[in-house]
Amino acid sequence: MNETIKLIAGDMEIELPVITGAENEKAVDISSLRQLTGYVTLDPGLGNTATCLSDITFMDGEKGILRYRGIPVEQLAKQSSFVETAYLLINGKLPSHQELTQFSVLLNDQSLVHEDMQKFYGNFPPRSHPMGILSAMVNALRSFYPELENMTRQDALDMVVARLISKIRTMAAMSYKISRGHKVIYPRPDLDYCSNFLNMMFDNPVKPYEIRKECVDALNAFWILHADHEQNCSTSAVRLVGSARVNLYAAISAGIAALWGPLHGGANQAVVEMLENIRDNGGNVKPYIERAKDKNDPFRLMGFGHRVYKSYDPRAKIIKQICDNLLEALELDDSLLDIARQLEEVALNDDYFIDHHLYPNVDFYSGIVLRSLGFPTNMFTVMFAIGRLPGWISHWMEDSTDPKWKIYRPRQVYTGPTIRDYVPINKRDSES
Ligand code: ACO
Repeated sequence: MNETIKLIAGDMEIELPVITGAENEKAVDISSLRQLTGYVTLDPGLGNTATCLSDITFMDGEKGILRYRGIPVEQLAKQSSFVETAYLLINGKLPSHQELTQFSVLLNDQSLVHEDMQKFYGNFPPRSHPMGILSAMVNALRSFYPELENMTRQDALDMVVARLISKIRTMAAMSYKISRGHKVIYPRPDLDYCSNFLNMMFDNPVKPYEIRKECVDALNAFWILHADHEQNCSTSAVRLVGSARVNLYAAISAGIAALWGPLHGGANQAVVEMLENIRDNGGNVKPYIERAKDKNDPFRLMGFGHRVYKSYDPRAKIIKQICDNLLEALELDDSLLDIARQLEEVALNDDYFIDHHLYPNVDFYSGIVLRSLGFPTNMFTVMFAIGRLPGWISHWMEDSTDPKWKIYRPRQVYTGPTIRDYVPINKRDSES
């Protein structure tokens, strides 16, 4: 028999169906609640609300599990490439040799950016944040490549997907070069996705960039770990904006804007700024721990805590290892890493952090990895965005191919004034 939940609302008793997910997670289907009872549900921050059924990513925050299309992220980070993982997320299966080659060829074909787009970059004021620029430029792609209307055809859709995944990397490197007043470096057909990006970022005519395997491997794993995370804030933004049937570029642009926030993707930048601040103030982590616990102080320990993970974020474990390996291979000694380790040790043994289930999240060590690769702090969230793009695209595709696809339109509980008359301006007192 199908499971149901009984609900007593006023003098009514109704039964609501229970949906069981592939990993046995349970959800009460309340889609008929308002119609049957007149009630809505209230769930600020949506912490108890599943907004969709999804086949893409499974995570269990209590057990620290993350899988893309069923495959543990630990296996992907070790054995896969970012391009292959992108294919897996978007197409639901690992590619054959031939499919992976075709996808790589398409990425190479789409890697150039319309020359006129370069002029846009020159018009952003100095010190514009690269996330704002990236969001605007991705939205602008719609004007340069308007053939999105034909997206019902699979080959057209494949092309648009490849265009976004390929161009976002060229556009990000281009914005960095232009912001520094340097010559733009073009993508090279002989380089893989990660090497190509590092080369576009750091090569210059007077100091050729040496592409090191350790750096490529670290970047590859960094992007795989960021490739999807089910219904997080930016992915929900993509789904919500996309539900109005807006074009893919506009939906992704909204995702980039959401990711920018310091409580979301902006945390990797905020972590490094916090660690620098601790270093510049003598390196003692204890006052920062005390501040994070003080309810009268808005300061939070950046890179700690997560809405879903109530144990160690599995991505943080991997990125911590990558960080150690990279620094050793590059023979770098970063004082920020020592401070991060101290902070982690003190926090993990502190009752406040234990009781609140606050553990390092993916952003805690990822900033140190990016810094070691040579990325300036304000590019960190852009790096996250490039990694998250395949996830955003797969969620947009899941929605847009769903026959029951509906525009997102939540309800609210109104708490403002009840009806009152308009008062002409010359008759208003301070209460009007
Ligand atoms: N430092 C100190 N206290 C914290 C922290 C933190 N980093 N995070 C949560 N808390 C405390 C809150 O003060 C609150 O305490 P209380 O119950 O005693 O009032 C409790 O833990 C729950 O916090 P919420 O804000 O309700 O938790 P929520 O699930 O809404 O927030 C979030 C999750 C936003 C990630 C939060 O932990 C945070 O601000 N962390 C720092 C920023 C960060 O690292 N963000 C990256 C997240 S990962 C990602 O987006 C890729």
